[in-house]
Amino acid sequence: MKVDLEQLAVQQVGEWITRGAPDRAIPEEPMPAIAAMRLVEEELAVEGIPERNLATFVTTWMEPEARRVIDDNLHRNYIDHAEYPQTFEIQQRCIRMLAELFHAPGETTGTSTQGSSEAIMLGALSLKLKWRQRREAAGKPTDNPNLVFGGDVHVVWEKFCRYFDVEPRIVPLQAGKYTVGPEDVEPHVDENTIGVAAVVGTTFTGHADDVVGINNLLLELKEKKGLDIPLHIDGASGGFVWPFLYPHSEWDFRLEQVRSINVSGHKFGLVYPGIGWLVFREKSDLARELVFTENYLGRADDTFTLNFSTGSSMILAQYYNFVRFGKEGYRRIMEIMQANAKSLADDIEGLGKFQIIGKDEETLPLVAFNLAEEHAYDEFDIAFQLAAERGWMLPAYTMPPNAQDVKMMRALVKLNLARSLVDTLHEDIGAAIATLEKKGPVTESERKRVKTSVTH
Ligand SMILES: Cc1ncc(COP(=O)(O)O)c(C=O)c1O
Repeated sequence: MKVDLEQLAVQQVGEWITRGAPDRAIPEEPMPAIAAMRLVEEELAVEGIPERNLATFVTTWMEPEARRVIDDNLHRNYIDHAEYPQTFEIQQRCIRMLAELFHAPGETTGTSTQGSSEAIMLGALSLKLKWRQRREAAGKPTDNPNLVFGGDVHVVWEKFCRYFDVEPRIVPLQAGKYTVGPEDVEPHVDENTIGVAAVVGTTFTGHADDVVGINNLLLELKEKKGLDIPLHIDGASGGFVWPFLYPHSEWDFRLEQVRSINVSGHKFGLVYPGIGWLVFREKSDLARELVFTENYLGRADDTFTLNFSTGSSMILAQYYNFVRFGKEGYRRIMEIMQANAKSLADDIEGLGKFQIIGKDEETLPLVAFNLAEEHAYDEFDIAFQLAAERGWMLPAYTMPPNAQDVKMMRALVKLNLARSLVDTLHEDIGAAIATLEKKGPVTESERKRVKTSVTH
């Protein structure tokens, strides 16, 4: 008997196999669960492979036991504290643990968020509202708030300024200087400054702003001019790296003007997306106007997030990591990543073409590098060639103003880039360069396919 293979496939997995995936209207008819699952899986098959994705800071691997915690709790709505009071308690434990890690002097407050972006929006809103309170109490105008930060910050800081009507005062970078310090910040602060934001672990090169210097500047302004300007630390990545790799380096609540810190649980907190944290130095650093008390769900609760219903799994997974690894476990993991990043940096340097950016400075476990000299090809060509030949996603990008002429490449070295993969990557970068030397730079259409986004 002749079997109609197409008919058979359609019967087994659904019409999409020959007609394509539904992409405009919700289909009129249901399809079997197995068919829907296959459809979704097949659609995603073209996407990046986590082990070869060196672009993202976000966690792409967790232990099977952690995945089980996540799976078992997907139904839990975090905001429903009446139904899930222990989930709320566990979230509070995480906040207390982070406050202790960041050396908060006493009792504090904070919240879990969708990621550092939400944490930054909330932290910066609190700065704005607290500034307004101070100005109103002094009988001064409140129509012109500004926020000071370096060009090395993540785009979310500018987003905050646009969404919430605050003037961004951005300290430009320069070629060869990719973080900011007190001398850069000083000309921009005045009585309308709601706060200064400094980054520990920048998105562009992984280094930290001079937080100690900026703190000293703000202390001086407080003493000499009576301007009490708070400092917020964007520790999206660095908040989980500095305490373990550079424990004696002061960047957190050990510094007096540091009033709030955000950190992404889903980056070096080693949890899948999306989880972030916002921690205040003291309870009084949280603007009271941000807090809403509601009792829709059967219990009066204070909340100050931008969303309401949200999942609990990643909060529970964060707690799982805290108790599973302990401080010693986090330290060892960070050291492993750092050791592999150092090997990769040495290997890349050994190719004789590149310079490593800020090699001996405190940095995230990553390698930021660029070509030491002009060639017929550039960093974007290398990124393309490496992706085309071996599927690595190693982004090329230009630095923010006024260093926009500087091209950069950046490889994140996470737990799933073990030493043997580092060696393979090294060989593959060498091979991509050899190809480019032979055939010349990539074409315009190839160039359009280069991975350039570094903002996550
Ligand atoms: C320094 C910095 N701040 C903020 C963010 C935004 O964080 P999230 O992706 O957790 O919202 C990032 C993301 O890469 C970052 O690197």
